[in-house]
Amino acid sequence: MWGAGIRRIREKGGELRPTELLVATKSGERRNLIFGGAMIGSEIVVSFYDVTEERRVQAELERLNAELEDRVRERTRELADALSTLELTHEGLIRSEKLAGLGALVAGVAHELNTPIGNALMVASTMRDMGPRFNEFLAEGLKRSELDRFLQDLQESSEIMERNLLRAAEMIKSFKQVAVDQSSHQRRPFMLTEIANELRLTLSPLFKRSTVSLTLDVDPEIRMNSYPGPLSQVLMNLVNNALVHAFEDSPEGEIRFSAHMGTDGYVKLAVVDNGCGIEPEVLPQIFDPFFTTKLGKGGSGLGLHIVYSLVTGILGGSIRVISEPGQGTSVNISLPVKAPDEA
Ligand SMILES: Nc1ncnc2c1ncn2[C@@H]1O[C@H](COP(=O)(O)OP(=O)(O)OP(=O)(O)O)[C@@H](O)[C@H]1O
Ligand SMILES: [Mg+2]
Repeated sequence: MWGAGIRRIREKGGELRPTELLVATKSGERRNLIFGGAMIGSEIVVSFYDVTEERRVQAELERLNAELEDRVRERTRELADALSTLELTHEGLIRSEKLAGLGALVAGVAHELNTPIGNALMVASTMRDMGPRFNEFLAEGLKRSELDRFLQDLQESSEIMERNLLRAAEMIKSFKQVAVDQSSHQRRPFMLTEIANELRLTLSPLFKRSTVSLTLDVDPEIRMNSYPGPLSQVLMNLVNNALVHAFEDSPEGEIRFSAHMGTDGYVKLAVVDNGCGIEPEVLPQIFDPFFTTKLGKGGSGLGLHIVYSLVTGILGGSIRVISEPGQGTSVNISLPVKAPDEA
């Protein structure tokens, strides 16, 4: 090839196309040379250019590049693995958080029950000791005044016991509502307006005594196949909350219950009040069991927890609370027309 090139330029003039060749030197070293040549006058001038170093650097660069690609591929795989581990951990965390929530609920109930049951127990043991004392009195000859005192003690003790046991029974009742027993609820087709009317009737005595008004705006066409009992309980709790919490400082206000079909095929229910709103630091806790800002003033803090478990459980929907201090509260619920089948 080389010889043919030389012949060509000798006959026709012009230049040799630069050609790279690998040549071995006398010492056996291999070098990359680029040869070129041209007829200058009657002479053929041949030039060569040693590119061994360039080629070495180039080869090294290619190797590094390939290595880099391998490393990137390897890292990507590692990252993908890490991501899936993270997702699994996340799911696990959510599960354990739910369990922790249940644990906290049970611990809370146990703690709350401790006081009334402890009180009742104390009084019961006092009453047990009263029997032998009464016998002693009898043996010694009972005075009228002693009999009166004894009867009065007995009366007071049983009242304390009854009060405390009633409190414990009430707590167990609300706890049972929290641990919603799916099978105990009746499922049937119904019109949503039925529920709204029932809500108005049940709550009318409360609103008669109040300057807060209740407005209902329910699409009369909405027909559901779901659980009317739990749904009423949810709405009752929400309207009641608005009545109790939203208008403490202002005697007048409005609570509005609305329901219409959403474009996504879910029923959109909202209980909205124009009351005091909820502080941002309180907002994330309102669904927690036993969270109440009315501790010792009639609040057990189970209301919204029950609402949450009914909506997301048996009714198969979702719930969101939007509230700002001074801007009122809006509780938005999205429910499927047909509740999910029981597990
Ligand atoms: N409409 C509202 N406006 C202002 N605050 C509200 C409203 N609804 C709920 N809250 C706040 O959320 C807290 C939790 O409500 P939740 O219904 O769980 O408990 P509660 O009403 O205090 O007690 P319970 O319902 O068990 O009698 C309330 O204590 C109150 O601070
Ligand atoms: Mg409540």
